[in-house]
Amino acid sequence: MLHMRENCKLFKTLEMPGKSALVLHRFGEESMVRIIRWLEKHEVPLDSSVLDIGTGNGVLLVELAKSGYVNLTGIDYSPSAIQLSEKVREKEGMSNIKLKVEDFLAPSAELSGFDICIDKGTFDAISLNPDDAAGKRRQYVRSLCRVLKPQGFFLITSCNWTKEELLDEFREGFEILEELPTPKFCFGGRIGNSVTALVFQRKKTRPSILDKLD
Ligand SMILES: C[S@@+](CC[C@H](N)C(=O)[O-])C[C@H]1O[C@@H](n2cnc3c(N)ncnc32)[C@H](O)[C@@H]1O
Repeated sequence: MLHMRENCKLFKTLEMPGKSALVLHRFGEESMVRIIRWLEKHEVPLDSSVLDIGTGNGVLLVELAKSGYVNLTGIDYSPSAIQLSEKVREKEGMSNIKLKVEDFLAPSAELSGFDICIDKGTFDAISLNPDDAAGKRRQYVRSLCRVLKPQGFFLITSCNWTKEELLDEFREGFEILEELPTPKFCFGGRIGNSVTALVFQRKKTRPSILDKLD
């Protein structure tokens, strides 16, 4: 299997002027469809509380609202991302979506008890931070344990980490439920995925990572 970072390099070499935005657009669309299909397939109740971690432009939340989900929250630590997602929400007439500027690495007390947490590219962004990336990844897992209910679902889409790496990052507190199929490609006789999409479930018991870090 090719490693994700090799894949990213490969993508760069394949990029042609004007095509990279299209590739990113397709990545976003495919990821949203994959997430919504999983929720529908598992008949996740439409009133489940859903948190989009690092919502960016908020489009995933709008698509979830169009699919019937009614209890949607998006956070992003960037005020301009939240301003943009507010505009998208307004344009789409989805005033019931809650949006908030929040740093997921220091979540407020009111950010808790979610049935579902979704991450599309945010763990990647956080874990590539040059300043203590490993510490930030640990803090991310700790925050996730705080905001997600025991037995709640965590859906992560990453273009930076392999399945094995993600299993290792989230081993404390989370169990893998499913790997979602993502496009495969062959390069130099080897097969790789450009994207990893996993569904975790929070363990019933309080994870010891909270004791260690509190
Ligand atoms: C790669 S973008 C993905 C955006 C969106 N999820 C999507 O799929 O289009 C990562 C997002 O995470 C946000 N982000 C990064 N670190 C964050 C943090 N500590 N807390 C909250 N949001 C964060 C960024 O502002 C950015 O909007």
